[in-house]
Amino acid sequence: MEERPEHVHHPIESSNRRRPIASASAVAASHAGPDAHGSPQHAHVLPDTLSALLWAGFGINRPDKGGRMAPSAHNWQEIDIYAVLAEGAYRYDARAHRLLLVKAEDLRQHTGTQNFVATALVNLVYVADFVRMSEAQDDERGFLAGADAGCIAQNIYLYCAGSGLATVVRGLIDRRRLTHALGLTATQCIALAQTLGYPGPEA
Ligand SMILES: Cc1cc2nc3c(=O)[nH]c(=O)nc-3n(C[C@H](O)[C@H](O)[C@H](O)COP(=O)(O)O)c2cc1C
Repeated sequence: MEERPEHVHHPIESSNRRRPIASASAVAASHAGPDAHGSPQHAHVLPDTLSALLWAGFGINRPDKGGRMAPSAHNWQEIDIYAVLAEGAYRYDARAHRLLLVKAEDLRQHTGTQNFVATALVNLVYVADFVRMSEAQDDERGFLAGADAGCIAQNIYLYCAGSGLATVVRGLIDRRRLTHALGLTATQCIALAQTLGYPGPEA
């Protein structure tokens, strides 16, 4: 039976979630204004932006079949997206298009081995649940999960390119540390992470 946690702690639902992007200017206009470098001042992600980028990444675009925005081998849909923000870590529930609270603490520093992850606007973590890949051969499971995560990451790249956000997909992760921080189970394997933020002055 599908897990249906009762508490939803981050308001990502929006009436325009199928609209491709909240434009960069809309993001900036909703903040206090640009800083000296022309970047928005607040390290804060708008619910509408988060909503749109998660839907673009791995949302459901064919509700009749539960079809997703990114392909997956055998349609296993084994990747879960964890959104790690300053205010907490959440798991994206694509079917209900909502974020479910995982940890109400700032875990950003645990999402990678590079300094910028600790202060990034958002770190997405792509977690494969090997239970959903039980038919895969042992020697192909990791490759297929990595490829499936890469497809999602690329959707996020396209979203970011269209909305004025900067992004980098990351393999430099202390997986043991992040597994512990997120409270993942033994069948969950971290494939990749992806950092999103506003472009720096050099961009
Ligand atoms: C599978 C994969 C893993 C990557 N891991 C990292 C990483 O851990 N840290 C990082 O800074 N960049 C990482 N990158 C980003 C590449 O270094 C980057 O895409 C490349 O240097 C080109 O830069 P650009 O994407 O900004 O054009 C990774 C890219 C891929 C495809």
